[in-house]
Amino acid sequence: MSFSKVASVLLASVSLVAGHGYVSSIEVDGTTYGGYLVDTYYFESDPPELIAWSTNATDDGYVAPTAYDSSDIICHRGSAPGALSAPVAPGGTVKMTWNTWPDDHHGPVITYLAKCSGSCSDVEKTSLEFFKIDAGGLIDDTDIPGTWASDQLIDDSYSRSITIPSDLEAGYYVLRHEIIALHGAEDLDGAQNYPQCINLQVTGSGTASPSGTLGTALYKDTDPGIYVDIWQSISSYTIPGPSLYSAGSAATATAAAAATTTASTAPTASSSIPAEALVEASAATETSIPAQLTEVASPTTAVDDVPSATSSSSSTTSGVLSGSCTDEGVWYCNGGTAFQRCVNGQWDASQNMADGTVCTAGTSDTLTIAAAKVRRDTHFLRHRRAHNHHR
Ligand SMILES: *[C@@H]1O[C@H](CO)[C@@H](O)[C@H](O)[C@H]1NC(C)=O
Repeated sequence: MSFSKVASVLLASVSLVAGHGYVSSIEVDGTTYGGYLVDTYYFESDPPELIAWSTNATDDGYVAPTAYDSSDIICHRGSAPGALSAPVAPGGTVKMTWNTWPDDHHGPVITYLAKCSGSCSDVEKTSLEFFKIDAGGLIDDTDIPGTWASDQLIDDSYSRSITIPSDLEAGYYVLRHEIIALHGAEDLDGAQNYPQCINLQVTGSGTASPSGTLGTALYKDTDPGIYVDIWQSISSYTIPGPSLYSAGSAATATAAAAATTTASTAPTASSSIPAEALVEASAATETSIPAQLTEVASPTTAVDDVPSATSSSSSTTSGVLSGSCTDEGVWYCNGGTAFQRCVNGQWDASQNMADGTVCTAGTSDTLTIAAAKVRRDTHFLRHRRAHNHHR
């Protein structure tokens, strides 16, 4: 056996032992922090203080769907909070870099935040309620098993950059970042979750406090994005977990609804809204809507035109787009009453417009929101607002 042959055999077995990967470095608003190097620090009597959470997953292994209701799924097996927190401004960037990732472990890359009441360094992890702030799934399914967010992460030097919602209220947060490997997910309980957590301290004067989901309630073994055969052509992939929160659309939808109330009490009741009240949501990084707006709004205009899909791989069901999209960031207004956005190469979930507001049907770079043509709804809006107030 030649030396190079021996070397490559050795390398092969080393990478086998090294296994899957973990987050080894984190860049927060330009400052680099060390990750929890589980294969080193776990064996040290006095490991360094970090923003990263420790775990005891020294096998570089995963959490299986059978453990989705156990605390292992929160921040990996045997996890404990990091002692430190990294300051980050709303709208700031967190770049998570993995030490390595096997290129056959295809799947989504998802990131959540959960607020701690004080510092996160001694938080009880089972009390954390996570809201999703970033998600990448299936990017292109031309060549089975497809190109996934995990492949993109490998191409980006094993990293993914995540934007902190620009309207998020200040405080301490746990950021939960995760790759879900789907290469064996055609079997029930065949998916593999690799969660990694860090502590952040969000600064600034934001006001948004999105509601979240307990870590132990994020996923089910039968979720369509968990129990899925990627070795077949799939027309669309549903990223698992609760819907994506992002800054902007919540505030803008509320602003438009408020404008509606004013407009509809004016003598000419039909909807002319001052130009400055027209909302351009293009500045928002991604779509989402607060919990109180996700209830079905009674549509105030008829759904008329069902648009054609904007890319060959998209599909529509009564006007709702699904599957992959090519125009990253583009908005799609479905018949005036619901909207979606192209996020990470996928049409995200359809969301209803807020009561009393409509969007301009079709796809465009900006989601234009205007007051619906309402008269009788003034009452209804007031009622809803009073109702919301009491919650
Ligand atoms: C990791 O921690 C969990 C408790 O959180 C424990 O049940 C498990 O035995 C530990 N595993 C190792 C390898 O230490």
